[in-house]
Amino acid sequence: MCGIVGILGNTPVAEHLVDALRRLEYRGYDSAGIATVENGHLDRRRAEGKLKNLEQRLLSEPLKGRTGLGHTRWATHGKPVERNAHPHMNERVAVVHNGIIENFQELREELTAKGHVFQTETDTETILHLVSAYLEEGHESVDAAKRALQRLRGAFALAIIFAGQDNLMVGAREGPPLAVGHGDGEMYLGSDAIALAPFTDTITYLEDGDCAVLSRQSVQIFDRDGRLVTRPAIKSLASSMLVDKGNYRHFMAKEIHEQPEVISHTLANYLDLSVGRVELPDLGIDPSSISQVSISACGTAYYAGLVGKYWIERYARIPVEIDVASEFRYREPPLPKGGLALFVSQSGETADTLATLRYCKAQGQRIASIVNVRTSTIARESHVILPTLAGPEIGVASTKAFTCQLSVFACFAIGLARARGTITREEERALVKALSEIPRHISTLLRDEDRYEDLAHRLSKAQDVLYLGRGTSYPIALEGALKLKEISYIHAEGYAAGELKHGPIALIDENVPVIVVAPQDQLFEKTASNMQEVAARGGRIVLVTDAPASKAGCALEAHIAMPEIHPFAVPLLYAVPVQLLAYHTAVLMGTDVDQPRNLAKSVTVE
Ligand code: AGP
Repeated sequence: MCGIVGILGNTPVAEHLVDALRRLEYRGYDSAGIATVENGHLDRRRAEGKLKNLEQRLLSEPLKGRTGLGHTRWATHGKPVERNAHPHMNERVAVVHNGIIENFQELREELTAKGHVFQTETDTETILHLVSAYLEEGHESVDAAKRALQRLRGAFALAIIFAGQDNLMVGAREGPPLAVGHGDGEMYLGSDAIALAPFTDTITYLEDGDCAVLSRQSVQIFDRDGRLVTRPAIKSLASSMLVDKGNYRHFMAKEIHEQPEVISHTLANYLDLSVGRVELPDLGIDPSSISQVSISACGTAYYAGLVGKYWIERYARIPVEIDVASEFRYREPPLPKGGLALFVSQSGETADTLATLRYCKAQGQRIASIVNVRTSTIARESHVILPTLAGPEIGVASTKAFTCQLSVFACFAIGLARARGTITREEERALVKALSEIPRHISTLLRDEDRYEDLAHRLSKAQDVLYLGRGTSYPIALEGALKLKEISYIHAEGYAAGELKHGPIALIDENVPVIVVAPQDQLFEKTASNMQEVAARGGRIVLVTDAPASKAGCALEAHIAMPEIHPFAVPLLYAVPVQLLAYHTAVLMGTDVDQPRNLAKSVTVE
């Protein structure tokens, strides 16, 4: 998604704007630009592609000015070319925007009829002309901005500066996040705290419908009814050191290797290892009275939810309804009294997940969320937060956040089960012990990374790859397929192994690698039969298992030997080989591993 930054500074801002945009690169973008007010005049520089192209422009055509806006664009309306890049600007107004203006066509027609000439295909330019139209009617800047905001329909965050107004910036939020940064005689706007970390750690998050009017000395926030409101200024957790790959080639590699540490941090937040107990926060609902758990999320977070479903049903004996958020929100399923709705989101800003949360809240469900950003919208709209302590995840492809989400689900399932008396103290101790050993096992796996490079050479030549799993390894197969396709662009599908004969086996021939995720559990023999069916048709099997290779009963392309662990902890550990397979294949393919094409880190629009 797009990234927004605005600075009312005491020194020239161009360089700071670009620095802040660099901290927003992880959100995914295809063009960038900045605009400043200098001696009362607006001026801008924009460039297609990565920030280095914008920096080149600024080297040859520098911008001064102590008031400015910056933007990284992820194209929704209009091609990713310079003409469509933000800021959109005329001689009176400059605007940057994240989101979608749903009624932009009707506004465009209305403004065109009034003589406004549009230069681009973007919905954002509509905002520019709308504010300008109110200025031309004689309204002063803030009033013109507020009137324009009243006309917009959709999900957007935006920032506006004005010619001749060196000490004014307006921000507005309806959906995608926008934060005010409080500086020392300076003020800032940003899509998140990460962008503002170099300038300040004192942040005010705007709520939906808010309009912020900033000067260097103060900020006024008005709600959607125009009332002056106060929003809390909090200390941000983002730190200026986070945007650093260390000695890794990619953020994704760094984040895969951070998993032992961040899983330990996350587990420590819920486990008392001295007595082998889970300590959950007060859910605000008696666990023994929970009639149903509804889980909703998107992408990788959804696959974490799928594993959570297996665990909650198996150990806490509570029925679980789960669906991807983009379906759940429009299906509008009836939800029972005494139900708990659980949302999973690394960013805490995913539009579909947030919309589903609001649906479930309106249905009287108790709302809990597993989030990595505690100040995010999803977190703030939940009754209770179950945080992951993964630290900021910069790579678009989620890795450490996923295994931390699994860690929270594992603790959550055990905590519910103990409260409902569906597991004994002995069983709880055994499950907690299994979790506590995972960081060490992952560290061991990561020391033997070379074997994935060889496998990656073979995967990189494939057109199609199939991932198979049963039980809690089925969501890991889905996740492995998602990882591979989203960063290497090789088509991959995850399937329940038992579904093979219901269609996918038609895909199998000697050109199709089949990654089988199969710990030696009570389902292994059944999966071994599937492997033999694949091998009989020439399929090339990569088996991820703690069983000896001979147990497959067929020829293997490769055998990724895993340590023997408690079946409960398998998804946490088996996620790592499929992450490494995807990562090394993508590196070989030469794709942009941290910012894959067409993808954004946080999908804050539908
Ligand atoms: C996962 O690698 C992808 N980046 C994507 O599927 C992601 O998990 C999904 O968009 C959900 O994001 P969230 O966790 O921030 O809500």
